[in-house]
Amino acid sequence: MNNYYRRFAVAPMLGWTDRHCRYFHRQLSSCAILYTEMINTNEIINSKYNFNIEYNDDKENLVALQLSGNNSTQLAYCSKLAENYGYNEINLNIGCPSYRAQKGYFGVSLMNNAHLVADNIKAIHDVVNIPVTVKTRIGINEQDHYNFLRDFIGTVSQYSGCKIFIFHARKALLSMYNTRKNLTIPPLNYSHVYHLKKDFPSFLVIINGGIETLEEAQIHLQYLDGVMLGRGVYKNPFILSEVDNNIFGLKKKLILYH
Ligand SMILES: Cc1cc2nc3c(=O)[nH]c(=O)nc-3n(C[C@H](O)[C@H](O)[C@H](O)COP(=O)(O)O)c2cc1C
Repeated sequence: MNNYYRRFAVAPMLGWTDRHCRYFHRQLSSCAILYTEMINTNEIINSKYNFNIEYNDDKENLVALQLSGNNSTQLAYCSKLAENYGYNEINLNIGCPSYRAQKGYFGVSLMNNAHLVADNIKAIHDVVNIPVTVKTRIGINEQDHYNFLRDFIGTVSQYSGCKIFIFHARKALLSMYNTRKNLTIPPLNYSHVYHLKKDFPSFLVIINGGIETLEEAQIHLQYLDGVMLGRGVYKNPFILSEVDNNIFGLKKKLILYH
């Protein structure tokens, strides 16, 4: 499959993009790639029913399962399970700033440990045949200079082979703000993401954060490989009804199922 389908994604949103929401979104766009809520590997492994990840029916194809965790064996196990359930991509969360993530040493805390992230990704790559991607922030606390981000991405890619990255273009502020506030504070910084695409032209770079319209999306798509929208789509899902035509050039009319 070529990577054209990566041009438009709906972001993973815990408590929001559950399978019912994704089913609804799929009625509006057949082309957008949809991301599940973040699911920690422990939740899958300790759950009798694999934490319901088995509910991935064809109607919501293309779907990426977003995992969090830091244990390569567990991540590989859950990824294989997800591949068998028909998910089209495994995405590793390296962006969650929550207290729970900090305590469990997953999410954005792992930006300080590029080698562990690379080991995790490699372990997943070794057992699945679907793409493995990373969603991360552009920095963490005072480590917000471009070189930190470039070195993190360079190391992860060098040791894992990963070349597909999604950037929430806002740094994480640990211990200073709660998770919700860190979705609006500090300001977005798209330039780091654009800079990365220049430094790693062969990588697929997908930008996320604050994009609310297809006009804005189209501007990013002139320079980058994809856009990911979260709250913009959740608050105004009918944006999605324009995506197949506007972003993918598909002339087919939208059919709403009853
Ligand atoms: C309610 C909510 C839940 C979120 N849960 C997740 C999550 O599970 N995994 C993740 O990577 N990001 C999560 N995010 C962050 C979004 O994926 C996205 O990066 C962020 O909202 C910025 O994009 P936007 O401005 O288009 O919303 C969440 C955001 C919101 C608003």
